[in-house]
Amino acid sequence: MRIDILTLFPDMFSGVFEESIIKRAIDEGKVKINLVNFRDYTNDPHNKVDDTPYGGGAGMVLACQPIFDCVKSIRTDDSIVILLTPDGEVYKQEKAYELSRAKHLILICGHYEGFDERIRSICDMELSIGDYVLTGGEVASMVLVDSITRLIPGVITEESHENDSFNNHLLDYPTYTKPRVYEGMEVPEVLLSGDHKKIDEWRKSESIRKTKERRPDLFE
Ligand code: ADE
Repeated sequence: MRIDILTLFPDMFSGVFEESIIKRAIDEGKVKINLVNFRDYTNDPHNKVDDTPYGGGAGMVLACQPIFDCVKSIRTDDSIVILLTPDGEVYKQEKAYELSRAKHLILICGHYEGFDERIRSICDMELSIGDYVLTGGEVASMVLVDSITRLIPGVITEESHENDSFNNHLLDYPTYTKPRVYEGMEVPEVLLSGDHKKIDEWRKSESIRKTKERRPDLFE
């Protein structure tokens, strides 16, 4: 998979993709991430990418031209163009699975006070990572890249994510490691039984109990 991230702040990403599982996925060629500064595409003699809003009001608005030209130059028939914006569809694990099967993602990070409404016309989807407003789409892009990359076949084992929270609309079951007793708290007996049928049943029922308790909305 190739992911192009259109941003005015490529330096924000340094570090994030240079550690742990994402780094390994890049090193192994499972994902290729390009940071594209769309300021490089502006026709403005002063390198401007934004302007004042029609009708007045505070702040600057990202203009169409640099983003349109940038997307035109990198888009192919395989591309999915995604705008990160707080008024997009709320991003969920199901969408991460769907996008992990794509060949090419183009992520557009909005910034400043907003972007020209016509930019929406070149996007295949608009995503929000939650009901709060970030300073721009950069952190949201990182969330997408992280959650999608780990689902690309071969990045982590299938087994590692088959019990992830949100699969089948359930939260993950509780897990424990050594020691058996820590500060008086014991590991549930069933996990020490060696009876895998019983362990599976316990995990399933704990998943259901936890989800009902913490996220009753997931049952709907
Ligand atoms: N840009 C600003 N806030 C955002 C959010 N919540 N999700 C995605 N992009 C954003």
